[in-house]
Amino acid sequence: MNLGVLVSGRGSNLQAIIDAIEGGRLKDRITLVISDREGAQAIERCKKHGLAYKIIRKKDFRNKEEFEGVMAKTLKEAGVELVVLAGFMRILSEVFLQYFPMRVINIHPSLTPAFQGVGAQRQAIEYGARITGCTVHFVTEELDNGPVIAQACVPVLLEDTEESLSKRILIHEHRILPQVIRWISEKRVKVEGRKVTVEGARYGTLPFNPDLEAF
Ligand code: GRF
Repeated sequence: MNLGVLVSGRGSNLQAIIDAIEGGRLKDRITLVISDREGAQAIERCKKHGLAYKIIRKKDFRNKEEFEGVMAKTLKEAGVELVVLAGFMRILSEVFLQYFPMRVINIHPSLTPAFQGVGAQRQAIEYGARITGCTVHFVTEELDNGPVIAQACVPVLLEDTEESLSKRILIHEHRILPQVIRWISEKRVKVEGRKVTVEGARYGTLPFNPDLEAF
C-alpha cells in the first residue's frame, strides 16, 4: 500500500512507521510526506531515510479550500492509497476528505471522545482522569472523533506532568499506529457506521489494549 504521511513537527510517529517498514513489520511504502511547516524535525527524518517530501504551507494559498485541494491532488498524483495524519496540526474538511473517503487515519493522544483538540494530555491531567491513552481513528469532519480503530490506555499518575504523561502515551502511539496501518493494508478492517471491526484481531489480552501482534 502506498502511504502518504502528513506532519507538522517532531515526526516521532512518522519515525515509528519508517522503523516498522525498515524492520519488515510493514510491507507498505511511504510514497510522500507532506509537512505544512518548514523546519519541522519530520523533514530531517525524510532526508535521513531517503523519503520524498513536500512542504505545502497554508499561507501560500488564498484560502483553506485551495490549500487542502492542492494537498489532496498532490497525494493522489503520487499514488497514495492511505493518508496517515501523524502529528498534523490542522483540521481537514470535506474538500480534502472527499478525495480519500475512509482512507485517512489520525493518531490522537487521548481515549476519544475524551479530550479532543490540542493539549489532550494536559486536559486529562487537569480533568483529574485516572486513565487516558491514545486512539487511532478514521478521520471524518468531526474533530478527533471519527470511528475508532484502536486504542491503548495508560494510567495518569498523581505526580504526572504534561511531559511525563505525553511520554508514557507516546510509547503506545508508536505501537498502535503501525499496527493499524498493517491491519488496513491486510484489508482486515471493516467499518459499519461508527463500528470498526478488525478480522482476526484478538482484543482484550491486556485490559482495554488491542493485541499488538508484532508491534
Ligand atoms: C502526537 O502526540 C500525536 O498523537 C499528536 O501529535 C503528536 C505528534 O508527535 N496528534 P510526533 O510529531 O509524531 O512526534
